[in-house]
Amino acid sequence: MRLTILGGGGFRVPLVYGALLADRGEGRVTRVVLHDLDAGRLAAVTRVLAEQAAGVPDAPRVTATTDLDEAVRGADFVFSAIRVGGLEGRAHDERVALAEGVLGQETVGAGGIAYGLRTVPVAVDIARRVARLAPDAWVINFTNPAGLVTEAMSRHLGDRVIGICDSPVGLGRRIARVLGVDPDEAWIDYVGLNHLGWVRGLRVAGRDELPRLLADPELLGSFEEGRLFGPEWLRELGAIPNEYLHYYYFNRETVDAYRRAERTRGGFLRDQQAGFYKAALAPGVSALAAWQRTRAEREATYMSENREAAGAGEREAEDLSGGYEQVALALMRAIARNERATLILNVRNRGTLPVLDSEAVIEVPCLVGADGAHPVAAGPLPDHATGLVCAVKAVEREVLAAAESGSRATAVKAFALHPLVDSVAVARRLVDGYTAVHPGLAYLT
Ligand code: G6P
Ligand code: MN
Repeated sequence: MRLTILGGGGFRVPLVYGALLADRGEGRVTRVVLHDLDAGRLAAVTRVLAEQAAGVPDAPRVTATTDLDEAVRGADFVFSAIRVGGLEGRAHDERVALAEGVLGQETVGAGGIAYGLRTVPVAVDIARRVARLAPDAWVINFTNPAGLVTEAMSRHLGDRVIGICDSPVGLGRRIARVLGVDPDEAWIDYVGLNHLGWVRGLRVAGRDELPRLLADPELLGSFEEGRLFGPEWLRELGAIPNEYLHYYYFNRETVDAYRRAERTRGGFLRDQQAGFYKAALAPGVSALAAWQRTRAEREATYMSENREAAGAGEREAEDLSGGYEQVALALMRAIARNERATLILNVRNRGTLPVLDSEAVIEVPCLVGADGAHPVAAGPLPDHATGLVCAVKAVEREVLAAAESGSRATAVKAFALHPLVDSVAVARRLVDGYTAVHPGLAYLT
């Protein structure tokens, strides 16, 4: 089984490789091909992986290349985990929006639109190449904004592209933990778009345990989302939102906290990772130890401005390691071994949410097997959630249209229609600001 990782010089690649090393099962990945545009980053990550593999029998063999077609040809699975424009690009996405007084974040609001406009053309090119060079491969998309990018790729790959995110799993696990139930025994009723979903129920042996949590302020105050959103708001909602909804429900406070911060998250990570990539190539240094230190600091500071704005305090140690690599591995195993797993994934709607058309990519529990991922029927969303989901999907569609036509006016429309952009005049200035700093937006005319 051969896995190709696009964005193979990326910081999270050792997480994926670590999960592969622990997988001893039949049909496991035996070859990993890393692709990246930057040979230096590939060399650094290759060193980390070599240290991880030391002493592990039959560790998957790793090769690296900067040639995309070579990387894709012959792949069984293609993971796409690229960051167009790098972390410098992310910092620009964040700063231009914050300078206009609107949310500047990696995937949400204006920042996410800018990131989507840069990324979609690149993702579509990848999708076309995979369709031509590895038509039987499954594409697992981690590239953000993951829902939008998966939808762009699905226009060329159909259901052979599946989007993943670690946030719904993490949320489900935290809720199960406070309720004292085994997450593997629980059915998590979660639905929405990527970074825009709600847990409406958590059923164990046919019984919904979520009302027990919603009725107990003490339990509600004892986990991340409870502290972030506050017990009263969760009770009013009657659901537990994905942590990314904090940017919507507490928009003014998060924007204020982000504007006060010395550096944006992207700026912080850019500087932090520059240190790692340099250290990982220095002679006589453990690249793995440098990676582990950098990772710990990154995880401990995740969403720290939101937590500060909410008075939520520090993150709990149990929440610090993401389930990112576990979702990726579980998905590959379910497909390769027909394991019939249930995973929350980004797939085409196909009638699951009747308010959206069937091609719209949504985030929903799916039954996964050798024939791919199939969304499981979900109950209707409440009106407030339907409103947000439809508004944001409409924005995503404008982003896809702008990426296809190259129309600057359509890009302005995408920003202007977003619920977190409060004026058409702001949208126009955002497009001016973003096109001035991003070479990857030169196609907009
Ligand atoms: C979570 C989300 C990812 C996102 C990441 C940002 O893992 O699911 O989609 O990219 O957080 O974290 P960072 O440490 O880069 O700010
Ligand atoms: Mn995500």
